[in-house]
Amino acid sequence: MQFRLDKLIKLLGQHGLAGLALNPGPTLAYLTGLHFHLMERPTVLLVTATGELALVLPELEAGKLAGLPFEIRHYTYSDDPETRPAAFSRAAEALHLPGESLGVEATRMRYLELTYLADALPDTGFEDASDCLADLRMIKDASELEKMRQAAEIAQTALLATLARLQAGMTEKDVANQLIIQLLEAGSDPGLPFAPIVSFGENSANPHAVPTDRPLRPGDLLLVDWGANVDGYLSDITRTFTFGEVEPELLAIGEIVRKANQAGRAAGAPGVEAGAIDRAARAVIDAAGYGQAFIHRTGHGLGLEAHEAPYIYDGSSLALMPGMTFTVEPGIYLPEKGGVRIEDDVVVTENGLESLTDLPRAVLPLEDFLGG
Ligand code: CO
Ligand code: CO
Repeated sequence: MQFRLDKLIKLLGQHGLAGLALNPGPTLAYLTGLHFHLMERPTVLLVTATGELALVLPELEAGKLAGLPFEIRHYTYSDDPETRPAAFSRAAEALHLPGESLGVEATRMRYLELTYLADALPDTGFEDASDCLADLRMIKDASELEKMRQAAEIAQTALLATLARLQAGMTEKDVANQLIIQLLEAGSDPGLPFAPIVSFGENSANPHAVPTDRPLRPGDLLLVDWGANVDGYLSDITRTFTFGEVEPELLAIGEIVRKANQAGRAAGAPGVEAGAIDRAARAVIDAAGYGQAFIHRTGHGLGLEAHEAPYIYDGSSLALMPGMTFTVEPGIYLPEKGGVRIEDDVVVTENGLESLTDLPRAVLPLEDFLGG
């Protein structure tokens, strides 16, 4: 924890931030090991660029601080909202925050907390600290990678167990529900990275489909995008299968996407731009004439969040470094017909990219996986 805090202090200096205000979430947990619910009662951790900490939290949560291996100043308030401003003011005063810029997580900080902070720190501005926090969390250490490997392993085990239980007439919702059960059975923590995507036939042409009551029918593609959680570290995998005899074009796009996935994974190495992975995968799909049907970036960082830095898009000049983890997930989506996406989780090593996921990538018949 002290190592992570020291790293943050250095980064705050580099990014010209006087400090950081954090809501409950992955960064707060990463720095302190503390887990709070993001709810209607505000909880905010203030960290200064000199390494001072102050936590504002509801009285009923203060017990969580008892077992901490380090001291943290904290300021509580009661269930009467009138007592909140005083807690924020006392925290702000204790830290002697300079009247400069305080960084916040743009995707997490809410109007609720920001209002209390602005009132307690009238001379302080707020700015997006996403770049600073990306630098803090992007490179995973060995223990983080071990959890990500486990999350990948659990997800793969759960998918195979789910496929073996598939039966004619099952709906997308049935399969998604079964997959959730199998993820928990295989050892995932209950907070799944996201609700699994299970889409059949024409629904698979929507990259972010929500499972429906549509039953599986011969001639369908079946796309599953799912992941597990181990101690907050996530996996995020996609595989696509055929059911019965499918149109030749769907088989053809399956093979193109498989090659694009392979090209993307082959393109990454330390010092290489993140954008080069996107370009390598996209070149395969462009060359096959389906460029217009690959409607999203090639991947996104993965770790404590299902989407985090580094983002894998054409324009990214970010230099890859060993320990960075992200997805490689090209896809081709043909409206009314179906879509194929093949998504792996990878880590940058000294030599290139290592895939944490190793289920067969080819678009295979579901029949190969059914239980006997
Ligand atoms: Co996914
Ligand atoms: Co993904």
